[in-house]
Amino acid sequence: MKWPRRALYVFLFGVATACASPQDSPSGVLSPDGEIEFSLEVDGSGIPRYSVSFKGETVIRASRLGLRFAAHAALDRDLEIVARTDSSNDSSWQQPWGERRVVRDHYNEALYEFRSTNDPGREMRLRVRVHDDGVGFRYEVPEQDAYGKVDIVDEMTEFHLPGDAQAWWIPGRAWNRYEHVYRSTPIEAIGLAHTPMTLRLPSGTHLSLHEAALVDYAGYTLDQRRPGIFKTNLAPRSDGMRVRTQTPFVTPWRTIQVSPDAVGLLNSNLILNLNEPNVLGDVSWVEPGKYVGIWWAMHVNEKTWGSGDRHGATTDNTRRHIDFAAEHGFDGVLVEGWNTGWDGDWFNNGAIFSFTESYPDFDIRSITDYARDKGVRLVGHHETSGHISNYEAQMEDAFDLYESLGVRQVKTGYVADGGGIQRVDENGLLQYEWHDSQFAVRHFERVLEEAAERRISINTHEPVKDTGLRRTYPNWISREGARGQEYNAAWATPNPLEHNVMLTYTRMLSGPMDFTPGIFDLLHQGDESEFRVQSTLVHQLALYVVLYSPIQMAADLPENYAKHSDAFQFILEVPTDWEESIAVAGEVADHVVFVRQERGGGDWYLGAITDEEARTVDVPLTFLDKGQEYAATIYRDGDEAHWKHDPYDYAIEQRLLSRDDTLRLKLAAGGGAAIRFRPAAKAE
Ligand code: NOJ
Ligand code: CA
Repeated sequence: MKWPRRALYVFLFGVATACASPQDSPSGVLSPDGEIEFSLEVDGSGIPRYSVSFKGETVIRASRLGLRFAAHAALDRDLEIVARTDSSNDSSWQQPWGERRVVRDHYNEALYEFRSTNDPGREMRLRVRVHDDGVGFRYEVPEQDAYGKVDIVDEMTEFHLPGDAQAWWIPGRAWNRYEHVYRSTPIEAIGLAHTPMTLRLPSGTHLSLHEAALVDYAGYTLDQRRPGIFKTNLAPRSDGMRVRTQTPFVTPWRTIQVSPDAVGLLNSNLILNLNEPNVLGDVSWVEPGKYVGIWWAMHVNEKTWGSGDRHGATTDNTRRHIDFAAEHGFDGVLVEGWNTGWDGDWFNNGAIFSFTESYPDFDIRSITDYARDKGVRLVGHHETSGHISNYEAQMEDAFDLYESLGVRQVKTGYVADGGGIQRVDENGLLQYEWHDSQFAVRHFERVLEEAAERRISINTHEPVKDTGLRRTYPNWISREGARGQEYNAAWATPNPLEHNVMLTYTRMLSGPMDFTPGIFDLLHQGDESEFRVQSTLVHQLALYVVLYSPIQMAADLPENYAKHSDAFQFILEVPTDWEESIAVAGEVADHVVFVRQERGGGDWYLGAITDEEARTVDVPLTFLDKGQEYAATIYRDGDEAHWKHDPYDYAIEQRLLSRDDTLRLKLAAGGGAAIRFRPAAKAE
């Protein structure tokens, strides 16, 4: 199945926007609530610049716009605005799965048409949408004689930040892709940063810079070219261009989320709203749920991906996991290392992985039959080590195989250094690409389409950053794209204590993450080892609510859950698909509290986590229904709990609560809280 991209663009360009004029702002565009204003001006050299204000405060200073091409005249100066069409929208749409069912899409829009003052035959448009939670704009270059096939060598879009902003960010275009420890610095300290990048201005206003709908284009990093001026730096292709395309084309949306406080960023729908609706039609086969797997055992050196005595992916071991999954109601069992190619240094085995041939000790058919009989599905796995040509050559057969076995979900992996995605070109030469280059972006889209044809969902590890494409392709069910739990295993410096909190205010703004929570054996390499999980046990429970993903793993070894079966109960009960989600309290890098209502049910769940500091947080329970009492099961850090000294100290309590109550959460250092609220009459 192919998304008819050209047809879509023609459709987009063909839409005549209504001419209602909702703006009170003569030069710019106001958000529906009037708090955010986008302004546009063109200077004496015909250079367009935009700025953004929030409640009268300038949050983005005058910042350049424009595109430059290799063999065509640039569209970045000598421009004039020849037309402007205003429109507005207030509608709602539903997510097939998600952190909330109903999403309101409410904005004012302006479509500015630019023409070259040197050559009236050259045109570009800028579509601007201002929502109450931020701004999105994109370039639209229509079909025209002056441009046909074009190579973009640079995009001029800038974000000129006011001084004294505090930033939370990871370095762009570095070897470890998006898997870095987040930095908390004044903006001066930034060179090249990935998006989403989170900022706090001295006024307390919070911003997030990112992009939406990255399709057939290059992802950008933020490049501080001059003090405070962050320019879009598009990932280069191996052939030196940034993007090769053809008119008509549209760029991804450049986004600026704006909020008076930190949690406002977490409640924003801007990125999803700027993506195109579902193109897959009926996606009832995309199934949120929970899974276990043959995974952590390799990360803690108990098993190996490759063949031998300690091979993890054996028929027997898989059956044992299927039994465990069936006994506890898990939907899937992930098995890594079942296919040939892992032996030796698998990081460098990209060219030799088979995606259809299993190791002799893994009988894939008997396993999938066994699983089906028990109401469990095998979760497939394709590690490519970044060799996309080897994968693409086998992809159809690989997905055919999984489809024939009833597999509905495949985890993919692209372990390769940044810039190290391998591709064999038309001359048989190996070329190296970035994970966010146009080549990789196209590859990920192709995988989704091939998978969708076979009703398979994809969970990408070492992906390109998320830009909300789950709306268009609901089978892009989750992804990694940050340091996940795996860094707390036996091979890396563990994630710092504030990492999980930091994820919620940075990486999670882009979409779901397959973090793989739920490690109960926190000191898995022994009490003295530096290789460990730096959190309390209850913090691990809270992550199921805090770090949104429609698929969640119970990542630990089955035997480790038996030791804390009362706490394990929370993992068994917590849903992964939600009617509504609200971040109710928190500060970037300190703590966060989320509440979410189960989809199709009346229960609410709360997850709270803190960094290395113990803290007390009061949560008014105003999200609960009026006139309804709730039986709350509270999993809390014990009075002595501390991530280092006593991570296993926890308590489980029952309380009757209603929306008039304020709950005091006491979070230990590195701790958290996890709560299920059941309407009292229903409580068992
Ligand atoms: C990196 C992934 O993030 C991890 O989950 C997986 O186990 C390894 N690659 C092997 O594919
Ligand atoms: Ca990874």
